[in-house]
Amino acid sequence: MNYENFLELVKKRRSIRRFKPDPIPDEYVDRIIEAARWAPSGFNSQPWEFVVIKDKKLKDDVMRIIRPPRPAGASGFSKLEDMCEPWMRQKRQPWLDPEMEYQNAPALILLFGDTRTQLGLPMVVRCDPHIKQSIYLSSLANAFLYMHLAATTLGLASQWVSSVASPYNHCLLKNLLHIPNEMEVYDMIALGYPAYKSRPKLMRPLDKMVHRDYFSEEDFRTDEEVRDFIKKTRAWVFANHRRGADKNMVG
Ligand SMILES: Cc1cc2nc3c(=O)[nH]c(=O)nc-3n(C[C@H](O)[C@H](O)[C@H](O)COP(=O)(O)O)c2cc1C
Repeated sequence: MNYENFLELVKKRRSIRRFKPDPIPDEYVDRIIEAARWAPSGFNSQPWEFVVIKDKKLKDDVMRIIRPPRPAGASGFSKLEDMCEPWMRQKRQPWLDPEMEYQNAPALILLFGDTRTQLGLPMVVRCDPHIKQSIYLSSLANAFLYMHLAATTLGLASQWVSSVASPYNHCLLKNLLHIPNEMEVYDMIALGYPAYKSRPKLMRPLDKMVHRDYFSEEDFRTDEEVRDFIKKTRAWVFANHRRGADKNMVG
């Protein structure tokens, strides 16, 4: 492995929100979790547990929790987005949800954190609830990212599905999957073979984010620049969501 190979992998990993129906081998799921197992975690706490779902009925049950049937155009996401600052609002068609066709994904992996592992963190961390939570969540985030990278090496597409962690969904999922009280859902990855190609990524330029030794005032983005970027990146993200929903999109 050299830097070029590594960077190639990092660039190749992209969010894909629609999958081919083809099943994925169990061995691939095992390999993805094996990679996640090696992620760095605070004080080597390894707080993770993985729930793999391939059973069609159970997948449908999960989907019913995170995407309950609603009247057309009335998703909670859309309603809330309509409340954001007018300058950053995006034109959307009402049927567009941020998490599109992942319900057809051949496999879902839910990543859970075992809160009991926080006991093993150093006292200086345990004394501060914010730091404790940050170390615990960062550890889970590392494992989660490793899963996405491992999936990429296997030619699989993956999507983050954060709505599993909303308080209401979290409780219903725990009940459905018989998850013990001490465990918390972190996030869900939907996995499958990609049904379309990702668009080039909108990226902030490298030289505008690196500060050598000191952060000088001219390096600091103005409020207008930040807002301009927010507008552009939100338009880019919503366009990607549309690709996830548009079944005619293959390239
Ligand atoms: C913490 C986190 C949460 C995310 N949650 C979601 C999500 O719930 N639904 C979704 O479609 N994408 C989600 N994403 C994917 C981002 O939208 C995506 O990474 C970003 O638009 C950049 O695109 P890329 O993954 O193709 O590089 C999430 C990403 C991160 C890092």
